[in-house]
Amino acid sequence: MTNIYHDANMTRWNAAADSWGKSADGRGLWNRCHQEPELVLSPYELRYLRPITGKRVCVLGSGDNQAVFALAGLGAQVTSVDISQQQLDIASGRAKELGLAVRFLQADVTNLSCIDSESFDVVYTGGHVAVWVSDLQRYYLEAARILKPRGLFVINEYHPFRRIWKESQDSLVVGSSYYDRGPFEYDVSEEILNAKPGNLKSYEFHWTVSDFISAVRNAGCQLIEVAEFGEGFADWEGAPMKGLPENLLVVAKKCPR
Ligand SMILES: C[S@@+](CC[C@H](N)C(=O)[O-])C[C@H]1O[C@@H](n2cnc3c(N)ncnc32)[C@H](O)[C@@H]1O
Repeated sequence: MTNIYHDANMTRWNAAADSWGKSADGRGLWNRCHQEPELVLSPYELRYLRPITGKRVCVLGSGDNQAVFALAGLGAQVTSVDISQQQLDIASGRAKELGLAVRFLQADVTNLSCIDSESFDVVYTGGHVAVWVSDLQRYYLEAARILKPRGLFVINEYHPFRRIWKESQDSLVVGSSYYDRGPFEYDVSEEILNAKPGNLKSYEFHWTVSDFISAVRNAGCQLIEVAEFGEGFADWEGAPMKGLPENLLVVAKKCPR
């Protein structure tokens, strides 16, 4: 079934792929993280992702693919899924350059019908993926479906408390209610960070902490850990969020039937 929000976001992410690739070049991590995974995976995540040699891992909404390259470097057999073929093309070229064997699949995270049920030991997702997805429950149901029984579901998302503020240099002013899930419609250019007005449409969705936790539990997974960490902020965030949590980590295990 078509999803007008996801179709528009796919067009935008395809258009943004080159500039997103260049910003990854600027960070200089994508070509190092297969050897130094701690550059892109936090100690909180690595506690659950090591050892992972030989395990089948699916990364959903893989974007810059830094997590994919780190997990492949740790010895996992990784499948990288993204809605944007352009993003995947760039990542596939980079994987070749690094000598990493990764399977790339173009798909919407709310419809992973191209992937068999119960085929992965670990599903990893996050780093600003849920914000583009109109149905968080469908997304996590699909993630759980492709996990083997007792497989691990690791989510590390940008913390929902960070999505509600107006742009400001020096003060935090609420721009939208924490409980307003959206859709938030924007007219944007192909730049993702410091986005300027343009001819592309972008649709965002703001899920709350309890939305994340409930969606994981309703997908048939048992929570292992929920953690919040980080408190700095970057220029692109547009408001002085020092002291607010940066990341929401949810780790769960798929319950056997
Ligand atoms: C900000 S990136 C997240 C990955 C990584 N942390 C990064 O920063 O590149 C967002 C990615 O999610 C993908 N995406 C957006 N909506 C999607 C959907 N419905 N299904 C699959 N991927 C989606 C985009 O194409 C983009 O590559």
